[in-house]
Amino acid sequence: MGDDALSGDPVAAVRERFVAVNGDHPMTDADDAYVREHFVEATPAAMEQMLAGRLPLPSYVLSDGTPMVPAAHGELAEVAGGVDRLHDWFVAFWPDDPATAEAEWDHYLSGQYVCLREVSPIRIRMKTARVAEASAAVEILRRDPHDPIGRGMLGQAVDGVLAVPGLDSLLLPMTAYDRLRFGGPSVRETWVDAPRAEFLTPVPPVWPLRTERLLLRPFRPGDEAALTDAWADEGWTSLLLSGTMNAAEVAEMVRRRSRQHDGLFLGLAVEHDGELVGDSVLILQGTGLSEGEIGWTVLPRHAGRGYATEAARAVLRLGFEHYGLRRIVANLDARNDRSAALCERLGMRREVHRRGDFWSKGTWTDSYEYALLREEWRAQS
Ligand SMILES: CC(C)(COP(=O)(O)OP(=O)(O)OC[C@H]1O[C@@H](n2cnc3c(N)ncnc32)[C@H](O)[C@@H]1OP(=O)(O)O)[C@@H](O)C(=O)NCCC(=O)NCCS
Repeated sequence: MGDDALSGDPVAAVRERFVAVNGDHPMTDADDAYVREHFVEATPAAMEQMLAGRLPLPSYVLSDGTPMVPAAHGELAEVAGGVDRLHDWFVAFWPDDPATAEAEWDHYLSGQYVCLREVSPIRIRMKTARVAEASAAVEILRRDPHDPIGRGMLGQAVDGVLAVPGLDSLLLPMTAYDRLRFGGPSVRETWVDAPRAEFLTPVPPVWPLRTERLLLRPFRPGDEAALTDAWADEGWTSLLLSGTMNAAEVAEMVRRRSRQHDGLFLGLAVEHDGELVGDSVLILQGTGLSEGEIGWTVLPRHAGRGYATEAARAVLRLGFEHYGLRRIVANLDARNDRSAALCERLGMRREVHRRGDFWSKGTWTDSYEYALLREEWRAQS
């Protein structure tokens, strides 16, 4: 025990231990604010246990000397059935690997588990598993960025799947202070930011796309003129999600679509001979952004000429070849016979007929989900 602890100043004694582990680095105002937001002040009782080596040292010491710990700091001892049982409870999470269990316990006691939003053995194990998964996925995707298994693994590792949290939600960012004590890139930078930028950030293709008769390109201001009549027509919009739109609303839709920059929503204007004849939509979604949802309209006076089919074929190709999608789906009101016929023409499979699940314009209606896998698309093209 240091002099300060003996002289009865536990805050100073804890700081001394903290500096021995982490070095003496300055905390900026931003560090202080961040730590106050995500951590709590250590209680006098907790400080006593820290000095006895039975609870983790602080994660941070604020520039005014206040020792700060994760919110779960004392709770885990309670869960374990008392601080005396904490060690045995903790290492039991690695029943087959005592060396890792003890190494994790030491790291836990050091207080340096600051990358985790919630410091607990179960979260430590999750982080280890997700990092291993991300690392294996990156290796696969470096060989083939469209590999479906690699995309699934990376999607789960980074973003999680349903109740399985990914690293993005498990990890906290690194502070300037952390950079001084740990150096190097953080786990978050290495296993969330870098793989997301390299493999999970859609890169748009070179516009426009051209087909035999059509040209597909992002929307631009001015496109609203061709769309206004169709969007004012109750019959034409009856089976769409949205209702009719007036001229100002259509202009606003065009303005928003022409500024979609996250790359996940592609709203494309479809032209024939320089005239706008409809639109095609592709939304990138799902684990590892490996699924797309496709949508379409053709303006009433251009219907019945195969334009929607031709544009959709180009969008399917874009999805599977350029974005490396594994599966593309279409969701529609089951009363939309023309849209269902279009799905069938595209070789999509009706996978789901949902009964009365879809609330649309004052009534519950059935809906269909059509789907096409990449290998099915390849086999038919
Ligand atoms: C759904 C919608 C896009 C389908 O439009 P569509 O005109 O039936 O589809 P296409 O443009 O592909 O045209 C296909 C028709 O053109 C015919 N055609 C003519 N020349 C063709 C060609 N060169 N290639 C293919 N088809 C051709 C086809 O035989 C088919 O006619 P049919 O339905 O009488 O058999 C359209 O009804 C629409 O915009 N509806 C309102 C909005 C909407 O509901 N959108 C869908 C929401 S899920």
